[in-house]
Amino acid sequence: MSTPSLLILPGDGIGPEVMAEVVRIIDWFGEKRGLKFDVTTALVGGAAYDKHGVPLSDETMAKAQEVDAVLLGAVGGPKYDVLDFSVKPERGLLRLRKEMDLFANLRPAQCFDALADFSSLKKDVVAGLDIMIVRELTSGIYFGEPRGIITEGNERVGINTQRYTESEIRRAAIAAFELAMKRNKKLCSMEKANVMESGILWRDVVTEVSADYPEVELSHMYADNGAMQLVRAPKQFDVIVTDNLFGDVLSDCAAMLTGSLGMLPSASLGAPMANGRPKAMYEPVHGSAPDIAGQGKANPIACILSFAMALRYSFDEGAEATRLEQSIENVLADGVRTADLLADEGVTPVSTSGMGDAILAALDASL
Ligand code: IPM
Ligand code: MG
Repeated sequence: MSTPSLLILPGDGIGPEVMAEVVRIIDWFGEKRGLKFDVTTALVGGAAYDKHGVPLSDETMAKAQEVDAVLLGAVGGPKYDVLDFSVKPERGLLRLRKEMDLFANLRPAQCFDALADFSSLKKDVVAGLDIMIVRELTSGIYFGEPRGIITEGNERVGINTQRYTESEIRRAAIAAFELAMKRNKKLCSMEKANVMESGILWRDVVTEVSADYPEVELSHMYADNGAMQLVRAPKQFDVIVTDNLFGDVLSDCAAMLTGSLGMLPSASLGAPMANGRPKAMYEPVHGSAPDIAGQGKANPIACILSFAMALRYSFDEGAEATRLEQSIENVLADGVRTADLLADEGVTPVSTSGMGDAILAALDASL
């Protein structure tokens, strides 16, 4: 097979800093493990707007369609708040998701042993937590029509539409059942079937799909109850499947349970390409953190773990992904901390590149 290709889109804020560490890790795998990648770098978000007047150029969009996987840092920042909605940095990200048809967004929420004290919940509620949220990513209220702000009589009306076709629900459900089969065979589907027709259909279709996965124990929950249960007893869950908007909210909630939002990766997957690999984009769950951008303070772990997900889901290198994840756990167990992870007084934080150095050393030690 030819050298696999990666498109790197560092984006805005801390994106470029954390991505610089990912590039060092990619180079390590090339040198030490013979895993070479053909890497191209381009602009997205505010950085693309500054250069091209749009948050994603057509050329970059075309490149994203062509590569084996896209790695994205983060988009957005206060500087761009004044921009018209159509060219806001977030539109670049949404265009990538939509045009690549990345319908299955995998958001793990995993509590690292060394960091269990960072959760705002009691340690025993979260220690060992390992759940996966599958968020539908290309439909629902994020993209439904009609939408807009119109004038009716003498006032404005804001309109968005929640709309799901059966096939959109089905493919997200299949992705979730497939993951459940590889994990603990337990899936909880969340919607609001008590108030939304789209929720009724969601529940119906997920139940239909479950016929093909008799080994998976399926449950259904209203999304508001789901939020409450996530905070009350998160370890009752293994895989959760939900729509675009509920998934946005529930995944932030789940991420914070782990006490380390700066640590969580995500994968957005679409249909298989001609070479059998899924269309894919990997990005940290955290945002562009403009308040600390450019200071070398950001934690690169979420972005590095996103590359680990790429190794696992795009390149079938599960053992190498585990090597990288384990190296990160070792570094944390040794007490290496970026500023966001500091609770203990007297511990001096490492910089973004200091964390990169420590992870590279742990990778070397793994050989
Ligand atoms: C996320 C973010 C995005 C979303 C924004 C930046 C458009 O919150 O990936 O969760 O709402 O999907
Ligand atoms: Mg979000």
